[in-house]
Amino acid sequence: MINVIGLGYIGLPTALMMATHGLEVVGTDYNEDLVATLNDGKTTFKEDGLDDLFDAALKAGIKFTTEYQVCDTYVISVPTPYDKIDKKIDPCYVVSATNTVLDAAPTGATLIIESTVSPGTIDRFVRPILSERNRGDVRLVHAPERIIPGDMVKELLHNNRTIGADDPEVGESVAELYANFCQGEISVTDIRTAEMTKVVENTFRAINIAFSNELAKICRVGGMDVSEVIRISNKHPRVNILQPGPGVGGHCIPVDPWFLVGDYPETANFIRMALQTNASMPEYVLERAFEVMKKEGIDNPEKVGIYGLTYKEDVDDVRESPTLQMLESMDIHLCGSSMRVYDPWVERDEVANQVHSVDEFLEGLEMIIVMVGHSQLKDDLSAFEDRILLDPRNVCGDGENIYKL
Ligand SMILES: NC(=O)c1ccc[n+]([C@@H]2O[C@H](COP(=O)([O-])OP(=O)(O)OC[C@H]3O[C@@H](n4cnc5c(N)ncnc54)[C@H](O)[C@@H]3O)[C@@H](O)[C@H]2O)c1
Repeated sequence: MINVIGLGYIGLPTALMMATHGLEVVGTDYNEDLVATLNDGKTTFKEDGLDDLFDAALKAGIKFTTEYQVCDTYVISVPTPYDKIDKKIDPCYVVSATNTVLDAAPTGATLIIESTVSPGTIDRFVRPILSERNRGDVRLVHAPERIIPGDMVKELLHNNRTIGADDPEVGESVAELYANFCQGEISVTDIRTAEMTKVVENTFRAINIAFSNELAKICRVGGMDVSEVIRISNKHPRVNILQPGPGVGGHCIPVDPWFLVGDYPETANFIRMALQTNASMPEYVLERAFEVMKKEGIDNPEKVGIYGLTYKEDVDDVRESPTLQMLESMDIHLCGSSMRVYDPWVERDEVANQVHSVDEFLEGLEMIIVMVGHSQLKDDLSAFEDRILLDPRNVCGDGENIYKL
C-alpha cells in the first residue's frame, strides 16, 4: 500500500493517478476540511481532467484520511517554501511529515520525498531524523515532480521523471512503481543529483523568462516590438526564448531558484539578478498602466479593472501571482487600490474590490489590465475589446486600443 502525504496541487493528482493504475493508495492530509471535502466526493481545486480521474480513483478504492498509515511506501508531497529573509529553503513541512511517517512506518519502509527540495536538504534535514530515531532501515528516495498546473493529468502520464536513491536497486524498484502510470523515461540517480536537477530545471525557466522580460524593457526604450524580435529570433535552430509577461507566480519558478541563491550567495549572482528582474515586472506593469492612463486621459482608477488573479491561465491557484504582487505594490504606493479585480477561476474572495461576474467587472470600465490570458477572455475578446487594454501577456492581438508591455 502507498500512503501519499499531502493532498494539495501535486499530492492529490499523484495519489489519484497511482490509484487508477492498480496501486492501493491512501491519501493523508492534516487539513481536516480538505479530507472531508474529498470524502464528500468533491475535488479541492480545478484542473483539467481532475474530476474524471477522481471518480475513477474512487471506483478503484482510494481512501482519504487525516491518519498516517502503516504501509510499505510513503510519498511525501508537502509544501517547501523559502525563507524570504535568507532565501534558503524552509524545510519545516518536510521535517514534520518525515517525523510523523516514522511514527507509523514499519521496518524497511520506503520513504519517497516528492516535494521540491534544495540540493543537500535531505542530507541536512531528513537523514539526521532517521539517525536520531535509529531508522537506518528506511529506504530514502527523492522523486521530484515536474507537472504543470493546467495540464497535470496529461503530464503525470507523459513527462520524464527523475528518481534519486542511495541504493540503485531501491531507485530501480521505485522507478518500476512510477512506471505503473508514467510513460516517460525515468532516470535513476543519486539523491543530491535529483534534488539539484529539479531546482536547475525551474531555475533555467526563471532565467529564460527574466531574459525575455529584460528584452521587453529594452525594446520599450528602443522602440522595438519585443514579440516580433522574439518570434524571429526563435526561428534560429538553437534559440528558444520564452515570452515576457507581468511577472512569475506559482509555487515553483519564483520560489525554487532562490534556494540556490540562499545556499550559494557568493556564486549565484546571475540567478539572483534573474529573480529580481522577474520580481520587478508587476511594478513595471503598474508603471505602464499609469503611463497608458495618462495618455488616454483616464484619471480615475475606478475606471480601470484588473483581469486575472491567478498566476497562470486556466487554473485557480493564486500563490505568488503577479496580480497579488502588483496589488501589494499599489498598497505600498498608496495608489489605485480602488481598481476592481476579476478572475473567472477564483470564486472565493481573495482581495478587496474583487467582483465575481464578468458583467459586474465590465460595468463602466474604460481600461483593463490583462494580467492573465484565461481562455474566457481569449475565446471571447469581443466582450472586452471596446476598452483600452493593457496586455502584458500579449494575448489580445493588435489594435489601436491595445497597449503591450
Ligand atoms: N504546484 C506546483 O505546480 C508544483 C509542481 C511541481 C512540484 N511542486 C512541489 O510539490 C510540493 C507540494 O506542492 P503543492 O503545490 O502540492 O502544495 P500544496 O500547498 O497545494 O499542498 C500541500 C498539502 O500538504 C498538506 N500538508 C502539509 N504538511 C503536512 C503534514 N505534515 N502531514 C499531512 N499533510 C500535510 C497541506 O495541508 C496541503 O494540503 C512542493 O514541494 C512544491 O514545490 C509543486
